Amino acid sequence: MTVTVRSFAKINLGLRIGAARADGFHELRTVYQTIGLHDAIRLSVGRGTGIEIRCDDPRVPRDESNTCHRIVSCALEALRAKGRVVIEIEKRLPVQGGLGGASANAVACLLGLERVLKKTLPAGERLRIAAKVGSDLPLFLIGGTVLGMGRGEQVYPLVDLPSFPCVVVTPEVGVSTPKAFAEWDRRAQDDAARRGRSYTASAPSGGKLTVGDGSDRMDELGRGLSAWLSEPYSSAPHSLVAKRGRAGNPLLRLVRAGIENDFEQVVFPEYPELREGKRALERAGAKYASLSGSGSTLYGLFGSKTAAGRAVVSLRKQGWAARATSTLTRWAYWSRIFDC
Ligand code: C5P
Repeated sequence: MTVTVRSFAKINLGLRIGAARADGFHELRTVYQTIGLHDAIRLSVGRGTGIEIRCDDPRVPRDESNTCHRIVSCALEALRAKGRVVIEIEKRLPVQGGLGGASANAVACLLGLERVLKKTLPAGERLRIAAKVGSDLPLFLIGGTVLGMGRGEQVYPLVDLPSFPCVVVTPEVGVSTPKAFAEWDRRAQDDAARRGRSYTASAPSGGKLTVGDGSDRMDELGRGLSAWLSEPYSSAPHSLVAKRGRAGNPLLRLVRAGIENDFEQVVFPEYPELREGKRALERAGAKYASLSGSGSTLYGLFGSKTAAGRAVVSLRKQGWAARATSTLTRWAYWSRIFDC
């Protein structure tokens, strides 16, 4: 039996980087949001042993370093199952693009494997395995609007935002996430030196790392997010709340909340064309535009599908690779994941 799974992408609605931790990861706070763009994963289990990965895209590794390989290996063990697993990845999302493509592929493999084997892991065990393979995986076990904490692997479903029209711009360049974090550390160190302060987070080697605690920045995002998500309730008259629930325009509230992605501070100076891409999205009418994760993908949220469609035409004329899609609510994410 072969099963096909849609492996949907995510964007980050704000991302704040905090302290470098003793394990070499960074504390962060972010809101993940699943979107309609996706890869397709076909997975089958036959006689024998081993994991085979097939993919036309030469940038996708086919060995044990592939997240799909790692998660299937962990899941087979946890499910006490045997067999030869063949995974075919139809790549449509950018590689190293900040859309969580490789992480989503891995979660799609886990879900596909369970379906083929007709065995299910407890939800907590799935989350544990996903977090072991990578920080960006667990969000795809939740879908919709998701709060990410810790190194990004601690995930909590938020009240789902309504679906927004969205335009995704995918520049050719790939950004390495570890390098972007390293550049963040370097800047934080320089900043500390300028102010005559020292940062003391300890590295796994026992040496000193460079970044201070940064919790004020993460708290700031936390306050912005809370204000954004609760404003319709907290600022509307009681009768309005009772009648209309989540009243107001969530997009305008998002802009007012001033949510930002810290990676822009290190990635834009390195790749100035990405800053240009964000400006082009804003000029094309985006209510809110940002880098996703560490990039290189940029996205813009629009007030209507027509406005998003017009923006795609205009951006393509300017030479940008732009695609229109929409954000996916949790319900839409789960109802479409196996429907292909
Ligand atoms: O967890 P994942 O494999 O996606 O992380 C890739 C790399 O990105 C890590 O090895 C680490 O260097 C960096 N990272 C980090 N802090 C995070 C997430 C990732 O420093 N919160």
